[in-house]
Amino acid sequence: MTIAELKQQIKLLKTQLASETISSGLRSKYLGKKGHFNQIAQVLTQIDPTERKQAGILLNQFKTFLENHIANQETSQPEAADWIDLTAPGIKPHVGHLHPISQAMDEITRIFERIGFTRVRYPEVDWDWYVFESLNMPKNHPARDEWETFFIDAPEDQEKGKMVLTTHTSNGQVREMERLDSQPPIRMINIARCYRRQQDATHTQMFHQFEGLVIDKGISLQHLKGTLDYFAQEFYGPGTKSRIRPFHFQFTEPSLEVDFSCHICGGTGQVVTEDGTKQKCKFCKSGWHEVGGAGMVHPNVLKAGGIDPEKYTGFAFGWGVERTYTLKEGMNIDDIRLIYSGDLRFLEQF
Ligand code: DAH
Repeated sequence: MTIAELKQQIKLLKTQLASETISSGLRSKYLGKKGHFNQIAQVLTQIDPTERKQAGILLNQFKTFLENHIANQETSQPEAADWIDLTAPGIKPHVGHLHPISQAMDEITRIFERIGFTRVRYPEVDWDWYVFESLNMPKNHPARDEWETFFIDAPEDQEKGKMVLTTHTSNGQVREMERLDSQPPIRMINIARCYRRQQDATHTQMFHQFEGLVIDKGISLQHLKGTLDYFAQEFYGPGTKSRIRPFHFQFTEPSLEVDFSCHICGGTGQVVTEDGTKQKCKFCKSGWHEVGGAGMVHPNVLKAGGIDPEKYTGFAFGWGVERTYTLKEGMNIDDIRLIYSGDLRFLEQF
C-alpha cells in the first residue's frame, strides 16, 4: 500500500464517520480492538519502509482526530437506548374531564329522566313576556325587583316587550306549554344559564338553574313532595329528607321553599365531637339546607300557556345548580366563584 492509498482510506473513514447519526457504539466501531482504526493500522507493515514514518504520523493524527470527534459526540448527545424495556411504566397522557357543573347537570338530567321527565333548553336571552309577564308578573309589579335583571339594548317587541338575559329558568314554563300545543301531560326539566346583577362569595353573575314542570289532570302537592324526596335520595344519598316551608312567588299558589336535610348532622343540627360533647353543626347550623323554590303552578300561568286551569293542575320548582351541587357530601367549597375561575388546581379535583 502506498501513502496515497492510506490517505484515501483515512479520507473515506472520515466521511463515513461524519454521516453517522447515532453516537452510541461509535467508540467500539472505530477505536475498538476490531474497529476501523486498528484495521487500517495493520497496513503499516505493508508500506514501503521509507514511507513508514510518514504513514505512522498520518495514522497518529487520524487516531487523535477520532478520539476528539467521538468524545465530542458522546458528550453532546444523550445515549440513545438500543433496547426498550416493555415493562417500564409508560408516560401517562393528560386526560381532561367535564367541568364539575356540566357533570352535575348530567347527573340531574339522568335522575329526572328516570321518572319520565324530558330535558329541554330554551333561550337564555328571552322576552320579558316569558321571563316575567306570563309568570303572573305584570309590568311594574314589585315582585320583579327580586330579580336583578340585565336588559338587552335591543328594540322592544310590541307584544313580548323588552329583551333580557334570563334571570331564571322559569321562562321555560310557558315556552314548554307552547311547544306541546298546550296539551298536557307535561314533564319538563329545563337546565340553562341564568344571569343576575350580583357577585359575591355565594353568587356569580352567570349561574345555572334547573326547572321542573309537571302538568296533568289531578296533579297535587303530594306529587311535588314525592318528587322532592326522590331527588333528595338520588342526588344526596339514601336517608336524605326534604322539607317544605310556606313562601311567596307570583307564579305558584301555594308557594314553597324547599330544604334538604344536612348529611353531616343527619338533619339534627348537632354533631357529637370526639370527647362526647354536642356542638352546633357548622355546615348547616340548623339541620337543613335551603335549595330553592317550588309550588303549584298559578292558574294565570296555565292560562298564559293556553291550558285550562279548571281541567289541569301542575307543580313547578326551580333551583340553582351550583348551590345544589356544592351542598353535596365532601364538597366544602366556600367561595362559589372558584367554580368559574378556570383554575386547574381546583377543577382537577372533580
Ligand atoms: N324562578 C324562581 C327563582 O329564580 C325559582 C322558582 C320558584 C321556580 C318556584 C319555580 C317555582 O318553578 O315554582 O327564584
